[in-house]
Amino acid sequence: MPSTTPTVAQAVELPVELTVNGERRELSLDTRTTLLDALRERLGLTGSKKGCDHGQCGACTVLLDGERVNSCLVLAASVDGSRVVTVEGLAEPDGRLHRLQQAFIDHDAFQCGYCTPGQICSGVAAIREAAEGRPSAVTPPGPPETPVRLSEEEVRERMSGNLCRCAAYPGIVAAVLEASR
Ligand code: FES
Ligand code: FES
Repeated sequence: MPSTTPTVAQAVELPVELTVNGERRELSLDTRTTLLDALRERLGLTGSKKGCDHGQCGACTVLLDGERVNSCLVLAASVDGSRVVTVEGLAEPDGRLHRLQQAFIDHDAFQCGYCTPGQICSGVAAIREAAEGRPSAVTPPGPPETPVRLSEEEVRERMSGNLCRCAAYPGIVAAVLEASR
């Protein structure tokens, strides 16, 4: 009679190579490791935050080959060979802040700051997406690939995947608008 004892899946490790904030990193990772955990637990890059771990809050947002992603939903082994930029990699090598980071300071766009790294990574991508003419749900119809001028409504829509429990939204919107000009 066949055994009914459930089998426990064995951990499988794979070599994974990522370019993180411009630096090549080689890791051996359990195939179930998320990109967020690889960044935080294995590479010590704790700027990206684990809020919900379910793709709902945006606190873990990083740039993956230039596109924003919720890193809690991405398996690191599935993006072998990719470029990742976290909030730690946005400033200039000489320490000068990215203009969106400076705008967050100038507009008092964070309170507890937990959501801030994800907000900033998302904002950087949102500004670029608009400049490239990628429409959002509130962009009026127009010729394709025409740069979208960001309005408050556009910023709110494009940043809607990032939640802030402190509700620093007015400052966040003002900061993204300023950095987009
Ligand atoms: S921690 Fe990834 S979306 Fe919330
Ligand atoms: S600044 Fe506190 S959650 Fe956004």
